Amino acid sequence: MKRNMLFLRSFMILVLSCIAIKINLCFPNILSSLKTLPIDGHFNFEQLHHAAKDFGNRYSFLPLAVLHPNSVSDIATTVKHIWQMGPGSDLTVAARGHGHSLQGQAQAHGGIVINMKSLQGLKMQFHIGNLPYVDVSGGELWINILREGLKHGLAPKSWTDYLHLTVGGTLSNAGISGQAFRHGPQISNVHQLEVVTGKGEVVTCSGKQNSDLFHGVLGGLGQFGIITRARISLEPAPEMVKWIRVLYTDFATFIRDQEELISGESTFDYVEGFVIINRTGLLNNWRSSFNPQDPVQASKFKSDGRTLFCLELAKYFNRDETAVVNREIHSSLSQLNHIPSTLFVSEVPYIEFLDRVHISEIKLRSKGLWEVPHPWLNLLVPRSKIQTFAQQVFGNILTDTSNGPILIYPVNKSKWDNRTSVVTPDEDVFYLVAFLSSAVPSSTGTDGLDHILIQNKRILEFCEIARLGVKQYLPHYSTQGEWKAHFGSRWEVFVRRKSSYDPLAILAPGQRIFQKAVPYSQ
Ligand SMILES: Cc1cc2nc3c(=O)[nH]c(=O)nc-3n(C[C@H](O)[C@H](O)[C@H](O)COP(=O)(O)OP(=O)(O)OC[C@H]3O[C@@H](n4cnc5c(N)ncnc54)[C@H](O)[C@@H]3O)c2cc1C
Ligand SMILES: *[C@@H]1O[C@H](CO)[C@@H](O)[C@H](O)[C@H]1NC(C)=O
Ligand SMILES: *[C@@H]1O[C@H](CO)[C@@H](O)[C@H](O)[C@H]1NC(C)=O
Ligand SMILES: *[C@@H]1O[C@H](CO)[C@@H](O)[C@H](O)[C@H]1NC(C)=O
Repeated sequence: MKRNMLFLRSFMILVLSCIAIKINLCFPNILSSLKTLPIDGHFNFEQLHHAAKDFGNRYSFLPLAVLHPNSVSDIATTVKHIWQMGPGSDLTVAARGHGHSLQGQAQAHGGIVINMKSLQGLKMQFHIGNLPYVDVSGGELWINILREGLKHGLAPKSWTDYLHLTVGGTLSNAGISGQAFRHGPQISNVHQLEVVTGKGEVVTCSGKQNSDLFHGVLGGLGQFGIITRARISLEPAPEMVKWIRVLYTDFATFIRDQEELISGESTFDYVEGFVIINRTGLLNNWRSSFNPQDPVQASKFKSDGRTLFCLELAKYFNRDETAVVNREIHSSLSQLNHIPSTLFVSEVPYIEFLDRVHISEIKLRSKGLWEVPHPWLNLLVPRSKIQTFAQQVFGNILTDTSNGPILIYPVNKSKWDNRTSVVTPDEDVFYLVAFLSSAVPSSTGTDGLDHILIQNKRILEFCEIARLGVKQYLPHYSTQGEWKAHFGSRWEVFVRRKSSYDPLAILAPGQRIFQKAVPYSQ
């Protein structure tokens, strides 16, 4: 009875609002209005399932339509159309890069998903000179920028561990990898953006021009505009990489070496690390089941079930510098305190090093282990709390298993711009700790989704209770209160930017930060 009344009431509200506001909420009219938009690309109203999927494999919301834009103006026209419908329509727009989000962030329930990869046709433009850069589409994959750049002997400076991600997707977060200690995250290596705001305006912005929008969009979780073009800083690309791994049993020694390596004049171009907990199975090994050899297996090192810490380093070089580089590496490594018998060095072409995770992807795909649920948890932990964190998490919460790689490495905040939207802990140096779990579909054991989600929750609860000042990276929350706590003192700026650039909350609804106004529901 009550439910019927509620339904009737919502139905009346819908009818009334359709009449009251000249624009119709009603389905057929939205569809026909989209169909008549003057665009170069096209809408697809039928094949929608792809747009309701992401790498996380846990959330799935069907959109109403998918836009395959042929030009920036297609995107602007579409967003402007929805903006002009006003608050009476609950239609939203999600830019979808490569859909490698984890919790539906690139989806739009009943809205429009823009397939940003359709924009790839825009040609990359390389500018060669003292300060080289490249102009690329927001839907471009980083792997393509690498391949094209190498033809000019150039490459971006700061990366992610996996390159089959789009420029717009990673710049909306930060883009963190082993180069970030030196160059900052990817958002620190962008000179200029072209953005379509939530009002359908096309705006060029940089540190000097429309700088509030520029900084807002970087790390802005897609909330202020759709990145259609980006100007990315480049450097001369090296030919080869010395790829090095060493092991530690003592956490304190491991992080002391890591922190030393990222401070001052580092010999290395890349510093990461990972935690090895009772390694068994391929999922556990996916990052290390390729070159250089798995350090544990290769050394026949007896871990006796102990947790190990692997430091991963890379040094870029050109073939004619091999002798000098070997000496430099030898001298730097002699300063470290790893277990001496566990030094593994290999030499690979630069592209092979950067594209390393793709090699694992191919392996996992062939075994049906790629398209599984990925309950990932990424945290930024302040340096002063990393030991407390490690003790509890590696010593208590995750003692006997882990369901995927656990990365851990420090970065220095001096390479981050605090005017961007990304949220970091309140300390100069903080660690990225990434629990990259894969769940075995329909398992109810320790490798099942439920178990992993409970572990993640325990980790987050510990951080909360112990007041570690941890921030989530690739954050995900379900209430606005939690978002407010995430942003802390920066929430006001975030809200102010939202009301300037996307006042109707049309963009990136899958982040679940703001809700688009629905008529009469205040
Ligand atoms: C295997 C793997 C490895 C990863 N490794 C790293 C890593 O080393 N470092 C790291 O920092 N991250 C890493 N990530 C996380 C990754 O950076 C994010 O998931 C990123 O969002 C994925 O890019 P995408 O193109 O698939 O974005 P999508 O999932 O398509 O989109 C992500 C969000 O950005 C918005 N968006 C997409 N395109 C645009 C645009 N052009 N303009 C504005 N907003 C847009 C979407 O609406 C959505 O809210 C990894 C992810 C995977 C799956
Ligand atoms: C971080 O960078 C700043 C500025 O370059 C430097 O002063 C500081 O020593 C660095 N911190 C560490 C721990 O390396
Ligand atoms: C390691 O994992 C195996 C298989 O899951 C388990 O049987 C064993 O007890 C674990 N060892 C330790 C030391 O946790
Ligand atoms: C950013 O950093 C600068 C320099 O350290 C500081 O003066 C400023 O207050 C900071 N701004 C914000 C928004 O935190």
